[in-house]
Amino acid sequence: SPSDPDLVERARAAKEKLGDKVFVLGHHYQRDEVIQFADVTGDSFKLARDAAAKPEAEYIVFCGVHFMAESADILTGDDQKVVLPDLAAGCSMADMATAEQVAECWDVLTEAGIAEQVVPVSYMNSSADIKAFTGKHGGTICTSSNAERALKWAFEQGEKVLFLPDQHLGRNTAVRDMGMSLDDCVVYNPHKPNGGLTAEQLRAAKMILWRGHCSVHGRFSLDSVNDVRERIPGVNVLVHPECKHEVVAAADYVGSTEYIINTLEAAPAGSKWAIGTELNLVRRLANRYADQGKEIVFLDKTVCFCSTMNRIDLPHLVWALESLAEGKLVNQIQVDKETESFAKLALERMLALP
Ligand code: 13P
Ligand code: SF4
Repeated sequence: SPSDPDLVERARAAKEKLGDKVFVLGHHYQRDEVIQFADVTGDSFKLARDAAAKPEAEYIVFCGVHFMAESADILTGDDQKVVLPDLAAGCSMADMATAEQVAECWDVLTEAGIAEQVVPVSYMNSSADIKAFTGKHGGTICTSSNAERALKWAFEQGEKVLFLPDQHLGRNTAVRDMGMSLDDCVVYNPHKPNGGLTAEQLRAAKMILWRGHCSVHGRFSLDSVNDVRERIPGVNVLVHPECKHEVVAAADYVGSTEYIINTLEAAPAGSKWAIGTELNLVRRLANRYADQGKEIVFLDKTVCFCSTMNRIDLPHLVWALESLAEGKLVNQIQVDKETESFAKLALERMLALP
């Protein structure tokens, strides 16, 4: 939908007034009305890497979700302030692993006598606390664009991986990219005593997957893939690795949001694509390539936006920019020093992956 011209003008004016003092980052799942004001757009890896790209900017306005803003705060200098235009923009997946639950899990692994062999690998989509736990226990962060490299690195450090909090990214990477079998993976359920696992199961496993998932990508099913193949002969199915294993196994291409964009950019005219990821991005790409004859459809019959990504809308962005332009710091995301130092260790291990 077209954005309100009055709000567009206010955002433009506030951004112009702030000049080099502000750096706006936008995740690919953001609304078009917001993304038009982003200085940099990217997947979670690119945004983590680029967060510190403009050290002279006093304010980083993060158009994305809470864990991304936290990561930006961790990776930037103390004099740079990170602002999330709506504090309710969380991530239900990140909320599926709390610091207490993960500490309890580590106790279970210790009881089973395997904690020393386990290297934690945490998906970027986790709180700063979980990242700090990861750093403290010798592990690394990963995103959907480097999960394979992160797992390779982790298996050079130890014999087993505790993968937090997305079971699907963990399983898909282990099986699809690392050649492991489904039997090498067990799922730790934080709501059950001992994670619902016996010590024998834990000792036999290579991948201990946390029982978390993305509710947006969880909607895609094997039926969605079969239906679209029937409906559109010759269609290429391209999905994000947060989708269930059966969906990823049935797809033709799998990758991060940045990978999805690059793949469609390189696709020949006349090709047909069904995309399994968040709808703002799919719609943007469908519009962008319509006049080049690339047919791009959403992989599911019902629409699905990420409701928390969508909380950042133009009114919230205008409010944040106008407040900053008046010298009023609002909605700052600030990770405490102790958490930050361990979380930074884990994030820097990711940034240093070969
Ligand atoms: P990427 O942009 O890294 O592919 O991540 C998708 C996502 O779910 C972010 O929340
Ligand atoms: Fe979280 Fe899924 Fe939304 Fe990404 S798409 S922010 S993983 S709920």
